[in-house]
Amino acid sequence: MAITIRTSQEIAKMRRSGIALRAVLDAVRVAVVAGSTTMDLERVAEAKIAELGGISAFKGYHGYPRMLCTSINSEVVHGIPSKKNTLREGDVVSIDCGVVIDGYYSDSAITVPVGKVAPEIEKLLAVTESSLVSAIQVVRAGVHLGDVGAAVQDVVEAAGFSVVREFVGHGIGTSMHEDPQIPNYGRRGIGIKLREGMVLAIEPMVNAGKPEVRVLEDGWTAVTVDGSVSAHFEHTVAVMADGAQVLTA
Ligand code: MF3
Ligand code: CO
Repeated sequence: MAITIRTSQEIAKMRRSGIALRAVLDAVRVAVVAGSTTMDLERVAEAKIAELGGISAFKGYHGYPRMLCTSINSEVVHGIPSKKNTLREGDVVSIDCGVVIDGYYSDSAITVPVGKVAPEIEKLLAVTESSLVSAIQVVRAGVHLGDVGAAVQDVVEAAGFSVVREFVGHGIGTSMHEDPQIPNYGRRGIGIKLREGMVLAIEPMVNAGKPEVRVLEDGWTAVTVDGSVSAHFEHTVAVMADGAQVLTA
């Protein structure tokens, strides 16, 4: 397993990529209203990525047909934007996007409520996002990969939710998926040690019910087996001597 160490010049380029991606996600978030379709969200992303001079990291990736993944309610990740999927009040939609700017990738996801959602779902979104924040807070040179996963798992399980095992975070740089894999569970002190200059996409996927997921017949959309609602948040972060720099902030 070869993990690339990035120079500060490379990290500066990745930050430019991450800032552009944040602008894309902000534009898409505003378009999340009852009655819009997930294809409407795709159109917003497409226009914004073009305006910013970027390239989609997703479209064409292993044949994936869109620039966004839009995963509604019990869909966990990799939902495909479609004119047939209309957002309704009370839904949640995970919006995952990746861009390439000047050869450097960034990857980030948010889960957005459509209007007012049930209190339990509000809690799921808050817990999933705070599990990501908790993981980012432990990142710095010298900590183990297991420390990162354990940070996510502790927050999620203390709230009574469960961590998806089948999908993981990843290194990122001049391609979308690089080593290492970053599970959202683990044991402290286990796994490789992070070094300054590693760049990681950390992305907890959290189910309100049981952890199991399955992939639908479209070959992409992952859903919870028990039908429970799922949430997903992701940031691209650089490992520094004394902490993490969030490149997609
Ligand atoms: N954002 C996803 C990840 O973190 C990748 C989406 S898969 C794609 O791994 F096919 F849509 F690109
Ligand atoms: Co990712």
